[in-house]
Amino acid sequence: MPSNTIIKKRNNNKINYSIDMKKVIALGGSNSVKSINKVLASFVVNKLIDVEVKVLDLNNYKLPLYGIDVEEGKGIPQDAYKLLNEIKESDGIVLSLAEHNGTYSTAFKNAFDWMSRIESKLWSEKPMLLMSTSPGERGGATVLEVAKARFSYMGGNIVAEMSFPSFFENLKDGKVVDKSLNSKLEMAIEKLQTAL
Ligand SMILES: Cc1cc2nc3c(=O)[nH]c(=O)nc-3n(C[C@H](O)[C@H](O)[C@H](O)COP(=O)(O)O)c2cc1C
Repeated sequence: MPSNTIIKKRNNNKINYSIDMKKVIALGGSNSVKSINKVLASFVVNKLIDVEVKVLDLNNYKLPLYGIDVEEGKGIPQDAYKLLNEIKESDGIVLSLAEHNGTYSTAFKNAFDWMSRIESKLWSEKPMLLMSTSPGERGGATVLEVAKARFSYMGGNIVAEMSFPSFFENLKDGKVVDKSLNSKLEMAIEKLQTAL
């Protein structure tokens, strides 16, 4: 099973002692084990400085397909509380959404729906860098718009947003290939860093 990984960093170097740092979670909106959105969220969150980083994996949360009958019969699963607690205990969020047919992946929407049954304002006003990526030229721009419109009703505090086009051409060997895309990304990361 994939694990959530925690890294503490100071001045962009990994450190192994515990000090009081802002906690930032990163999540890819996908249950693919090779999720490019998880890769991107992880890449981006690790650019922040003086933060404790935790990269979450949706596969670690066992959530049955949401349905009102399941909820009434068995209640809300513990893992929905677990994921929501990660959000609530964080100081910031990097979320990169996979786009499936112009909207959220089923796995993300399912987790989102379950958490919304606990608390409708589930994003808890935590500063969020909202992203999307795909192998295509639009980089999931449609799901980004969907999320932007919805999250504002659900405790979302989006401080920066960007879709990252043509993932496989643009992120190579741990670097953003295109200069203007890299500048745009650096600016988005700076906005999150400032908001923490
Ligand atoms: C059912 C399905 C629908 C998809 N729809 C879109 C789409 O609407 N737009 C897009 O850019 N890519 C689409 N894709 C391609 C995904 O962007 C691609 O699989 C990507 O790797 C998903 O992100 P992930 O690796 O983080 O899961 C779709 C893929 C699947 C399996």
